[in-house]
Amino acid sequence: MTEDRQWTAFLQWALPQLRMRWSGFRKVRAQVRKRVHKRMQSLQLVGLNDYRDYLQHHPQEWRVLDTLCRITISRFYRDKGVFRLLAGRIIPGLVEQVRRDGNSRMDIWSVGCGSGEEPYSLAILWAVQLQQRFPDITLRILATDVDPQLLNRARTACYPFSSLKELPVFLRESAFTVSAGRYCLQPAFKRAVLFVEHDVRGPVPATALQLILCRNLVYTYYDEGLQRGITQRLVDALQPGGLLVVGSHETLPGDVPGFMPLSCNRAIYKKT
Ligand SMILES: C[S@@+](CC[C@H](N)C(=O)[O-])C[C@H]1O[C@@H](n2cnc3c(N)ncnc32)[C@H](O)[C@@H]1O
Repeated sequence: MTEDRQWTAFLQWALPQLRMRWSGFRKVRAQVRKRVHKRMQSLQLVGLNDYRDYLQHHPQEWRVLDTLCRITISRFYRDKGVFRLLAGRIIPGLVEQVRRDGNSRMDIWSVGCGSGEEPYSLAILWAVQLQQRFPDITLRILATDVDPQLLNRARTACYPFSSLKELPVFLRESAFTVSAGRYCLQPAFKRAVLFVEHDVRGPVPATALQLILCRNLVYTYYDEGLQRGITQRLVDALQPGGLLVVGSHETLPGDVPGFMPLSCNRAIYKKT
C-alpha cells in the first residue's frame, strides 16, 4: 500500500469513531496527516498501526485525535455572494422582523468562528453599510469556537492581507489600520462581537436568535446523525422566521423538519 493509501485507510477507520466523515476530509487530509504524524513522533510511535493500537489501548487519546482533526481555514467575506445577500436583503429583512416584534436588538450567532473572520465580516458590513439606515437597532454577534487559541487571535484581530483579499476594498479601508504589515481591526468594529469558547456538539449557548451562521464545519466534517442532532438544536435556538446560513458547498441532512431553503440562495434556510 502507498503511504497515502495507508493514511486514507487510517482516517477511514478513525473518523467514524469520532462521528466525522471521510468525504469532508478528502481535500484537507494532508493537514490532518501532518498533525497526526507530529503526535506520533511525540509518543515515539513509528507507524500508523502502532498509533491505531495506541488509540485502542488509551481511550483518552481519541480526544487528542479529535483536536487534530479540526480544520481552521477561514477568511473575511468567504463566499462573498452570501455576504452581499446578507447586506442587501437578508439583514434588512430581519431588522423589519425585529421591529415588528417590538425589539431593538438583533442577535446573531457565528458557530465555529475561527479567528474572527466571519463575525467581524458581519460587524463591518453592519457598521459601514446598514447601521445608519437602522439607528434604532443594535447588533449583537455571539461568536463561538472550540479552540481557545483561535479565540485569542480573534480578540487581537490583526490579520495578514491574505485573510482580507475577498473583503471589498471600501470595507477594508473603513475598518482596518495597517501596522507592521498586518491589518488590524479598529476597536469600534469589535464592540458588537462577543467571543466565547463552545463546542457545537454541546447544548446551544443562546436562544431567540435571528440569524445563525454555521459554515464549513458541521455539514462538512460530521456524520449525518451528529448533523441531525445539531441541526435540531439550531432550529430550536432561532426565533420563528429566523435564518440559518451554511457553507456554499453544504446542505442540511434531509430529514430535519423546521427549515426550508430560500429560493434566492440554497445555502440559506428559513425556520418555518
Ligand atoms: C473550517 S473553519 C470555518 C470557519 C468559518 N465558519 C468559515 O466558514 O470560514 C472551522 C472552525 O470550526 C472550529 N471547530 C471545529 N470543531 C468545532 C466544534 N466541535 N465546536 C465549535 N467549533 C469547532 C474550528 O476551530 C474552526 O475555527
